[in-house]
Amino acid sequence: MKLSDETKKDLIEKALEARKNAYAPYSEYKVGACLITADGKYYTGCNVENASYGATNCAERTAVFKAVSEGHNRIDAIAIVGGRDSEGIISYAYPCGVCRQVLREFSDPGEMIIIVAKKADDYKEYTLEELLPDSFGPDF
Ligand code: THU
Repeated sequence: MKLSDETKKDLIEKALEARKNAYAPYSEYKVGACLITADGKYYTGCNVENASYGATNCAERTAVFKAVSEGHNRIDAIAIVGGRDSEGIISYAYPCGVCRQVLREFSDPGEMIIIVAKKADDYKEYTLEELLPDSFGPDF
C-alpha cells in the first residue's frame, strides 16, 4: 500500500490526539492509534484499562472495533504512539501480538502499513507481514 506523506502525517497527528483520551490509571502508559480504511475513513482509538487488568483494551483494537462496528472492515494502515506522561513519547510503541492478529483479520498483510511514531516526522514503517509473518487469517 502506497501512502502519501500527507496521510502518514495525518495518521500520526490523529493518533497523538487520541492518546490524550487514554484511560490508563494502572500502567500510566498511554497509547493512541489512528487507522485509515480502504474507503478513506479515519478511526482513532486509545487504550482503555480496567481495574481487573484483564479487561483492558488496547488502542489499536479500540480503533479497529470502532471502524468495523460502523461498517468499515478493510484497513489499509494504522499509526500508533505510546508513552507515559512523566516521560513523554520516548520510544516507538509496537502493537502487541493480539492487536497484530486482530489487524490481520481486516487487511492484506503484505499491503497493510503499520507506522510506529514518536512524532509526525519521527516514525518507522512496516507491513503487517513484517510484524506478523506466516500468519493465520480468514482465508484459511
Ligand atoms: N497497549 C496498547 O494500547 N497497545 C498495545 O499494542 C500494547 C499495549 C496498552 C495496554 C495497557 O493499557 C498499556 O498499554 C500497558 O500495557
